[in-house]
Amino acid sequence: MPNAALPRTAREVRLVARPHGLPEPPHFTVARNPLPEPGPGRVLVRNEHFLVFPGLRTLIGGETDGLPLPTLQPGDALFGPAVGEVLAAPGDGPLRPGDRVVHLAGWRDHAVLPVIEVTPLDPALPTPVAHLAQGSVPYGALTRLAPVRSGDVVLVTGAAGAVGTLAGQIARLLGAARVLGTTGSPGKADRLVRELGYDDVLLRGPEHPPFADRLRAAAPDGIDVVLDTVGGEQLAAALAAARQGARVAVVGTLAGQMAAERGGATAPVEIDTFRLVLRGVSLRGYSGSDHPDVEAEWRERFGGWLRSGEIRFPHSTVEGMDGAVRALPELIAGRHFGAVVVQL
Ligand SMILES: NC(=O)c1ccc[n+]([C@@H]2O[C@H](COP(=O)([O-])OP(=O)(O)OC[C@H]3O[C@@H](n4cnc5c(N)ncnc54)[C@H](OP(=O)(O)O)[C@@H]3O)[C@@H](O)[C@H]2O)c1
Repeated sequence: MPNAALPRTAREVRLVARPHGLPEPPHFTVARNPLPEPGPGRVLVRNEHFLVFPGLRTLIGGETDGLPLPTLQPGDALFGPAVGEVLAAPGDGPLRPGDRVVHLAGWRDHAVLPVIEVTPLDPALPTPVAHLAQGSVPYGALTRLAPVRSGDVVLVTGAAGAVGTLAGQIARLLGAARVLGTTGSPGKADRLVRELGYDDVLLRGPEHPPFADRLRAAAPDGIDVVLDTVGGEQLAAALAAARQGARVAVVGTLAGQMAAERGGATAPVEIDTFRLVLRGVSLRGYSGSDHPDVEAEWRERFGGWLRSGEIRFPHSTVEGMDGAVRALPELIAGRHFGAVVVQL
């Protein structure tokens, strides 16, 4: 029998039209939908927070080749990592009303989901919102692909983003002697140094002198480890500054992903492969699915570091479903610092 106390409709953020160039707020709308009864094997969740992430630009951009997630068509609801509270669950299942869970049906205020698609929060982490942190990627890259050794000079490109704000702190905790970063604004550069312990931060953009010259000046003896989320001229310059045996982990491609003239799934760059050979540099792409052991290890260490005060989880909060309509364009424009989280 239907439970009158449970919500019968849900609000969701939908893509209205495929943008020509980068998405703007009018490309999104909030629609109200009937919510089905949870039924056998399904739970009803009230979302509390969901993540705004740059991969959405790729999923709506129209370049579909080889993407690991379904692309978004006009009329589709957005999706992505979310945490919420279970309102209704099957009596014979593992979940109870009041349980907090993580799942991929963000961008709506309520969701009905198969029980197998929701995971109880990990007690290793002290807060629900910490489950939306993007630290397992830099942690995996800096322990598996491009291990940081004591005394290393580390460069994190895109240092003020969800990945980069944790990457610099992780590099330091793993023993880096000097951590350099890149970002788009002087205000964020200042916060990276003051709040997150970066030693030096370089600004991107055509109004500045050539990036390679400034990187060489900032790291005159070269770089041991690169955690790259940007690509483009920043990756090319990092490889030119690589020390003997340097390790480079490519985890993102913001320069291509956020280029208005591209669809978001390509990021070409010209690199000097002669340097790679000469200096024995390793260059590898990071995909979380190749490293299934990383997530649990990261959450354990992240929880410990949060509780001891050795790490921060920098995140910016956008309020409500109506604010969510503007959240992706704001992320792309560089308006926020750290992970961008919509709070309902
Ligand atoms: N491999 C994986 O498993 C994995 C997992 C998560 C994320 N990623 C990828 O990692 C990258 C970073 O993710 P994130 O969540 O940390 O994103 P993010 O940095 O929060 O993305 C937004 C930021 O991108 C920067 N940006 C905007 N336009 C740019 C441009 N043209 N060139 C360079 N930077 C630009 C701006 O930062 P500034 O204003 O500071 O420049 C903006 O604040 C993305 O490419 C993402 O898809 C990969």
